[in-house]
Amino acid sequence: MKQDYSLAPKSEIDSTEFETVADVVPLYPNSSQLNETFAELERSLPFVEDESWGNLLRFTDNLTAPLHRWFLFKEGYSYKLVDKILDRFDLPGKSSAILDPFSGSGTTLLAAQKRGIPSVGLEINPFAAFLGRIKTQWYRIEPEILEKELSLVLQDNEHPPANLPALSTLHNNKYFPNGHADELLKLRNAILRRPCSQETKDFLLLALLASIEDVSYLHKDGRLLRFFQRDIIPPKEALSNRTKIIIEDLENLIQQDENGTQNPCIPQTNVIQGDARDLDSVLDQHEISDQFGLILYSPPYPNNFDYSEIYKCELWLGGFLNSYEEWRNLRLRTFRSHPSCSFPETHCLKDNVALREVYQLVEKMAKCPDIGEPGSRARVRAPKVIRGYFDDVYLMLEQQKIRLKTSGYIICVVGNSRHGNLHVRADTIIAKIGQAIGLELVEIRVARHRQSRSQQVQKLRESLVVFQKNN
Ligand SMILES: C[S@@+](CC[C@H](N)C(=O)[O-])C[C@H]1O[C@@H](n2cnc3c(N)ncnc32)[C@H](O)[C@@H]1O
Repeated sequence: MKQDYSLAPKSEIDSTEFETVADVVPLYPNSSQLNETFAELERSLPFVEDESWGNLLRFTDNLTAPLHRWFLFKEGYSYKLVDKILDRFDLPGKSSAILDPFSGSGTTLLAAQKRGIPSVGLEINPFAAFLGRIKTQWYRIEPEILEKELSLVLQDNEHPPANLPALSTLHNNKYFPNGHADELLKLRNAILRRPCSQETKDFLLLALLASIEDVSYLHKDGRLLRFFQRDIIPPKEALSNRTKIIIEDLENLIQQDENGTQNPCIPQTNVIQGDARDLDSVLDQHEISDQFGLILYSPPYPNNFDYSEIYKCELWLGGFLNSYEEWRNLRLRTFRSHPSCSFPETHCLKDNVALREVYQLVEKMAKCPDIGEPGSRARVRAPKVIRGYFDDVYLMLEQQKIRLKTSGYIICVVGNSRHGNLHVRADTIIAKIGQAIGLELVEIRVARHRQSRSQQVQKLRESLVVFQKNN
């Protein structure tokens, strides 16, 4: 089912009513009763506790790995996770390709590329799609050219007048002291003015966007960008450092290639900017007819995290967004894991008889009296997040099933979350939705338990939900 959120007129979206506090009646189970319901339900599910996978759900390994280290994408997983999965699960047929419908910084795609496996990534955020695309096209640029162009950009002192993008954060001297935001913009314009290839400009732009945290007091901290005073460096120095990391990796990879240690034949890797809930039609539009042997990804978790907010400086400074209206439209196309905008309502679980049990569980969570303090904004917003999130899970899994080969695997890496004192077990609900649409649930591998800030909520699992398609 195609959901075109971008086209919903503002008046229609804003008129969507939030549930009022009065609607949350105590007829619905409280959080401890829901804990019991889930404990009972989970006894019949194939949970496997395996904390040896825990570190693989973090970006840490990527910080020192060639190509992966070009940009700190905190929410990404380790490339070693992809290796471990490929070692463990046999993909159907020798020519199976891999799909990551939430490709973020491109971890899955780069790891697949290294093993000679073709892959496709879908990503809604244009900055993240750019990041994944450039990293997976590392072989298209010569390090010597990049080095030469870097020095010409750094020497360019002609600065035709240019206005900073409208984003207020970029105008805030507290975050960007000493004119650093203006300086970043000048460097970006100097890159765009160079009479060199588009590829060279893209690599330099990536290095520039990776510099934002080096030159500002902004720090990505969970779902917020926070002020964090620390040592920062001037933008030219940051751009130079970041480009040199890229050049170093390219030189090493070329050398390995000459020694025959790098895969001589680089497999096809595509990164498409698109919505994972429209997977089939997006792939059709790009003339990708493949069915995939493995669909491996980590969607946004139901934890109020909004990627368009966290990566707003990269989006605006990179020129991927030019107005607040475009920003809002991007938000409206993101997975409904956050309450940053009023998403149109859908009723996918409600309208599907096979999903009755899941629908009732989701409704019990959405109406749980412990979802937030009475009268709080959280109490009004969390039910919308929960309902929207699991409708989106249904939409994405339906689409993935269409593009999965028989005997192929879907592996969804997801974390549970807390809303007020309500524990939202995303792994369990995703497992139930997958089963209800006809996928075989192979296992729910629990890789980590994260401490919740609420005493009343148990530790939050982070799991791999593994499905296989049998027909
Ligand atoms: C957890 S991150 C993926 C990180 C990735 N595994 C990595 O290692 O870099 C989730 C990604 O989903 C993207 N996303 C959100 N809504 C989406 C949608 N509707 N379709 C496709 N991607 C979406 C976000 O922009 C974000 O980059």
